Amino acid sequence: MARHLLQLEGVDAEGLTALLDRARSHLPAARGEATPARSMDGRLVAQLFFEDSTRTRLSFEAATARLGGRSMALQGAGSSASKGETFLDTALNVDALGVDAMVVRTSISGGAALLARNVRCAVINAGDGRREHPTQGLLDCLTIREVFGRFDGLRVAIVGDIANSRVARSALHALTTLGAHVTLVGPPTLLPASMAGVAHHRDRVALSHDLDATLGGLDVIMMLRVQLERAAGGGVASDYRELFGLTHARAARLPGHCIVMHPGPVNRGVEVDDDVADDVRRSQILRQVTHGVAVRMAVLEHCLGR
Ligand code: NCD
Repeated sequence: MARHLLQLEGVDAEGLTALLDRARSHLPAARGEATPARSMDGRLVAQLFFEDSTRTRLSFEAATARLGGRSMALQGAGSSASKGETFLDTALNVDALGVDAMVVRTSISGGAALLARNVRCAVINAGDGRREHPTQGLLDCLTIREVFGRFDGLRVAIVGDIANSRVARSALHALTTLGAHVTLVGPPTLLPASMAGVAHHRDRVALSHDLDATLGGLDVIMMLRVQLERAAGGGVASDYRELFGLTHARAARLPGHCIVMHPGPVNRGVEVDDDVADDVRRSQILRQVTHGVAVRMAVLEHCLGR
């Protein structure tokens, strides 16, 4: 039976911790500092990206290669999707090629689960519409655990375009399950009240439309990209940076130990100022990318049963 990773919703603390522990053991190999066990020798992974990606796609390829497996990459543009083949038909054909796993990114919320119900191989969700991005949630958790060594009682703010963010949903599920308190911060248009009820541990979730009021007590501030491609018309509000950007002035009001995270790609000068993104003391942005390789190694092994 293929094991899939479709979402972090419903994964318990034990399951999350096991994946994080396994990912941690892969950190030296992910950094290129150690030779990993070739646990994916002879395994074939299809990378199906129907939406743009830099970090996620390349880190799944790096993770596969580090473990001795092979990747085949298909991008939406340049595939028969442009000839009218459906998403499911494309996946069924890739499955018929005999792959061991498929990594899938799609604009269809629930798209990865749809494939998992229909194919023989393991399916790993690399972002499905506005729903979830489980390996991003795991790498965010690993990054936080590497800094603080725990989740219990940590105060995390996730800031920005929550409504459209699969990153926010996956992080919210995992962080609250692991014991952190999460405040979702954004303008009313990008932060629907229904988000409060999304997490299993509702008592660990708060909503705020006032970033300035939340800065003082934070251990982690996670900034999100304003996702113009999902916005129903209109661009970024002209006062977005002023109200919800992590500006130089706001960063100065964070507690000294508070770390800054962002899943990338960063809109510099919109959600984060240049000097905040590049502040080596606080910013975890590039470490998150390295952690992503280790997490994807752990997830591939988990799904392929090694
Ligand atoms: C995110 C995504 O595509 O969901 N990027 C990523 O995977 N690191 C976030 C984004 O696009 O803003």
